[in-house]
Amino acid sequence: MSESFDLLGFKKQLSTQWLGQDFRYFQTLPSTNSYLKGQKPEAVEHGTLALTDNQTHGRGQHDRAWRVQPGQNLTFSIVFKPQNTTGIHALTLACALSIVELVNNFEEQCSASIKWPNDVLMNQKKVAGLLTESFFLGNNIERLIIGIGLNVNQTKYEGELAEKATSIHLETGEKKSREQLLNELLRRIEFKYYLWNRKQADLFKQINREINGYGQWVRLMVNDQMKESSFKLLGINELGQLLVLNREGGIESFSYEQIRIVTD
Ligand code: BTN
Repeated sequence: MSESFDLLGFKKQLSTQWLGQDFRYFQTLPSTNSYLKGQKPEAVEHGTLALTDNQTHGRGQHDRAWRVQPGQNLTFSIVFKPQNTTGIHALTLACALSIVELVNNFEEQCSASIKWPNDVLMNQKKVAGLLTESFFLGNNIERLIIGIGLNVNQTKYEGELAEKATSIHLETGEKKSREQLLNELLRRIEFKYYLWNRKQADLFKQINREINGYGQWVRLMVNDQMKESSFKLLGINELGQLLVLNREGGIESFSYEQIRIVTD
């Protein structure tokens, strides 16, 4: 059953300093990422958030569609206007880490992890996807949009999704308050942004610990080609690049988009 997001209830609890203070709710929207992308530079600020209950043309990675049941999930996008573009991809991972922590925090039996590069898994099924888009003015970043689709109360997944997707409700057996979850998540993301902006080593360690396959020998798809030998996953550096150890003992680094990790 579709339920409307309780905007007043949400705002009463909102305790962030800047994230989501400019909050734009839409009953229906083609895509929250596309909406924020279409705004003039002066019409959105660092922390502007757009959320909809019914996204009709949700976009995922690799031009795939993102479709979820209306009024059951969290479907939103955030504008960031960072001063510095170094390690932008690590910011997406910092948001993914915030989701992992949110989920792991309320249920002991839940084991969430980051599936490189932009999914969050709960008990090995996809519970959230992130879509990051960056826009530049010359050499400077004008805005970064991170879109998040978090499956909260949806309990039915059709077709191939039935095998691969899950929601917090399905994994915990409990319906959750979307307003409460979003408040908690925004607090976490705001703090992670603070750490990311200061390039705090601790943040990268926290991210690494949650990446599926971290410290293990895994297979890699580089630019859509499966590598013959396996690599040990060493985690990300401050630039958001993935570092791996090859069988000859050399360290190789790959950019965010170049690589897929295949774990057994
Ligand atoms: C993926 O898993 O491929 C990424 C999915 C990202 C979906 C979110 S939902 C909110 C935002 N608006 C969109 O159109 N996409 C993102």
